[in-house]
Amino acid sequence: MSEELTGSRPAADPAGREPEGVPLLSLRGISKRFGPVQALNDINLDVPAGQVTALVGDNGAGKSTLIKAIAGIHTFDSGELLWNGNQVHIATPHDSSALGIETVYQDLALCDNLDIVQNMFLGREDLHYGRLLDEAAMETKANQTLRDLSVTTVRSIRQPVFSLSGGQRQAVAVARAVMWDAKLVIMDEPTAALGVSQTAMVLKLIERLSSQGIAVLVVSHNLNDVFQVADRVAVMYLGTLARTAPISELTINSTVELITTGSLSDGSDRRQ
Ligand SMILES: Nc1ncnc2c1ncn2[C@@H]1O[C@H](COP(=O)(O)OP(=O)(O)OP(=O)(O)O)[C@@H](O)[C@H]1O
Ligand SMILES: [Mg+2]
Repeated sequence: MSEELTGSRPAADPAGREPEGVPLLSLRGISKRFGPVQALNDINLDVPAGQVTALVGDNGAGKSTLIKAIAGIHTFDSGELLWNGNQVHIATPHDSSALGIETVYQDLALCDNLDIVQNMFLGREDLHYGRLLDEAAMETKANQTLRDLSVTTVRSIRQPVFSLSGGQRQAVAVARAVMWDAKLVIMDEPTAALGVSQTAMVLKLIERLSSQGIAVLVVSHNLNDVFQVADRVAVMYLGTLARTAPISELTINSTVELITTGSLSDGSDRRQ
């Protein structure tokens, strides 16, 4: 794909609606090689608004590479990206966030010694309508975003982030993404380090994002989580997309089979 930097938002239609049936993000024929390793091989994937798409696959299947390419950390060797049906070029993380794509990585990239409000505005203090916000306005906006996401367990938004639980930290990272008008939130293993109740909180947060019309693409090894929140599942196998299906067409067993062998023994993966 071209390295050309655009990242501009495509023109909205006059009624302000997205074209019906057009996915928010479509990957078409995406390939990426690292030396001898074909990390991504002709990937075609749609990520619709208002739905949770789970990206699953064994270690080394290519999930993180795919996410990093959408986030502008890696560029593709070939293929194209469509955003609301229009071709876009993502060459840098800035291009990705300019489109409305926010990625929450497993290490979260929060600053431990700063409080919640400072973290939510980190690096963006001057971006809000081109002017600096005062502390009170920043607090109000941070509070509102956390409330909208029903994040109610945080005692004070002036708490330093090191004093938060893993689930609360995840919630702050997601809230930070959403506060900046994310249209697509990508999460890499959001529950991997979490206990039972914190996992439940993050899964609720994911459901809330999709119910607000945001597209969610979530990488997870935990199929119980996947079957709890996902609307669609995309299974990667050795750099290829073995199958994409509505969750209702798969079971945990058939998903495990797709993850480990790339196909289903009854041949039902060849329907599409
Ligand atoms: N920067 C890189 N340089 C060279 N090879 C890489 C690089 N990043 C990934 N790879 C290779 O690409 C393949 C896909 O890796 P990737 O990290 O995307 O897998 P994954 O599905 O995220 O796995 P996991 O579940 O273990 O996180 C692997 O064979 C990996 O070794
Ligand atoms: Mg990975």
